[in-house]
Amino acid sequence: MLLSTIFLALPLVAQFGPASPPDPAIERGRQAFISACAFCHGTEATGRSAPDLVRSSVVLHDEHGDQIGPVILNGRPERGMPAFNYTPEQIADLAAFLHSRAAATANRFSYTISGLLTGDAAAGKGFFFGAGKCSTCHSTTGDLQHIAAAYEPVDLQRRMIYPVPTYMDSMMGKKTKPAPPVKVTVVLPSGQTESGVLEHRDEFKVVLKDASGQHRVLNAEGAKVTVDDPLAAHEQLMAHITDRQMHDTLAFLETLK
Ligand code: HEC
Ligand code: HEC
Repeated sequence: MLLSTIFLALPLVAQFGPASPPDPAIERGRQAFISACAFCHGTEATGRSAPDLVRSSVVLHDEHGDQIGPVILNGRPERGMPAFNYTPEQIADLAAFLHSRAAATANRFSYTISGLLTGDAAAGKGFFFGAGKCSTCHSTTGDLQHIAAAYEPVDLQRRMIYPVPTYMDSMMGKKTKPAPPVKVTVVLPSGQTESGVLEHRDEFKVVLKDASGQHRVLNAEGAKVTVDDPLAAHEQLMAHITDRQMHDTLAFLETLK
């Protein structure tokens, strides 16, 4: 119940208004966020091992980086948030990106809650197997076979939008399917290449688990780091589907008991 209360409270976050025209600061901030912050906070800033920043009170109360900046510069090392030596411009870009995410999410959740279970399952089925491309990665007789039995509608909708356990799930002791592992390849300045499952990344180092199960700590300086997150495409897709497609797809998924 706590979760739905939180979702219902979100439309109150109205001060951001609708998304504004594309802003280069947001795009720079997005790139910086993906390379330095996403491994812990999720590519869409909705939380992974570290909290959701889209609904963070620090972000909500921030103006032009005044609240976010000190957290980035000082970190909270004892709680797992590293410090970053960033310029005011870099911080402003990151703040612009996080505000854009908060605005987009507030809008999205405000309509999805009211639209929950109002969709057309047949149209959703068409979308799932057609334009939505869902069936290129999912199967209604495989991984999603009993998906509607596994989650309450509101949770199924949330999993569809952001299929990663959130900070809130762990706070509430919910058992949620973990996110698939993120793969990383690091080409060191010497030309030596290392790859494996990403365990940690910050501006100084990359920690990965290699094929033999060994933890490797690699210096990120001068290295070329390529991250392959199996969820990236899913998240991109969800960020761009319309309200109607969302409602219809959910109605279709609800038939998969
Ligand atoms: C190694 C993981 C990690 C990385 C990388 C990381 N963070 Fe964090 N971050 C955390 C953790 C853990 C917390 C929660 C700390 C706490 O409990 O107070 C946090 C907290 C925050 C908060 C405060 C949220 C709140 O509501 O209190 C902000 C803002 C933040 N991070 C922004 C960033 C930005 C921007 C980046 C990239 C420049 C970044 N973080 C990179 C782990 C990380
Ligand atoms: C490029 C591949 C890809 C596409 C396309 C894709 N997804 Fe996903 N989706 C994933 C991955 C990876 C996961 C996370 C793994 C998991 O939880 O099974 C996921 C998770 C999910 C989950 C949560 C499953 C669970 O057990 O909690 C739902 C629901 C879902 N996707 C629905 C959709 C729908 C609906 C579409 C089409 C609009 C779609 N996905 C398109 C890759 C994709």
